[in-house]
Amino acid sequence: MSRLESFINRMTAQKILLEHVAEVIGDVTGPILELGLGNGRTYDHLRQIFPGCEIFAFDRVLVAHPACIPDAHHMIFGEIRETLAFCAPRIGGPAAFVHCDLGSGDPTMDLATGAWLAPMIVQVLQPGGHVLSGLELGHDSLETLALPPQIRPGRYFHYRKTG
Ligand SMILES: C[S@@+](CC[C@H](N)C(=O)[O-])C[C@H]1O[C@@H](n2cnc3c(N)ncnc32)[C@H](O)[C@@H]1O
Repeated sequence: MSRLESFINRMTAQKILLEHVAEVIGDVTGPILELGLGNGRTYDHLRQIFPGCEIFAFDRVLVAHPACIPDAHHMIFGEIRETLAFCAPRIGGPAAFVHCDLGSGDPTMDLATGAWLAPMIVQVLQPGGHVLSGLELGHDSLETLALPPQIRPGRYFHYRKTG
């Protein structure tokens, strides 16, 4: 598969999965956390498909398209490993949905990131809250959910917090 095909597949999977979560999340309440604002593409899609929901974006740099930059209150700058544990007063309550797009392309780095990230996400997530992640996040409190049939297993991961 060429890198172009892989990029298209990743973007397509993100769109399908974000819309899938919007359909299945039901009445779970709370803000949405976008871990890795990047260019702001998925942030912009989240705004469109979750109208009226508060969305907080996290990144260590600001490289987003000018039309996709959250206001200062909703943009949390810095290393997610440092900021996520301390965001509770700012986000105002446990999150309903965390979208995590932090893959580095290096399998060892991605394993290391998943190991510190999973317990931190569990801490900020509402019981019954959903997680979509490009990285596998193993944690006892995260139940793995089936992906829509169009998504190749292992490309993305969908979890729900138990309890
Ligand atoms: C793949 S991009 C996100 C793309 C975005 N979802 C979009 O649709 O445009 C990943 C982003 O995560 C940020 N990032 C990766 N690891 C991070 C970390 N540990 N702390 C803060 N930001 C991080 C990078 O700076 C980068 O902007």
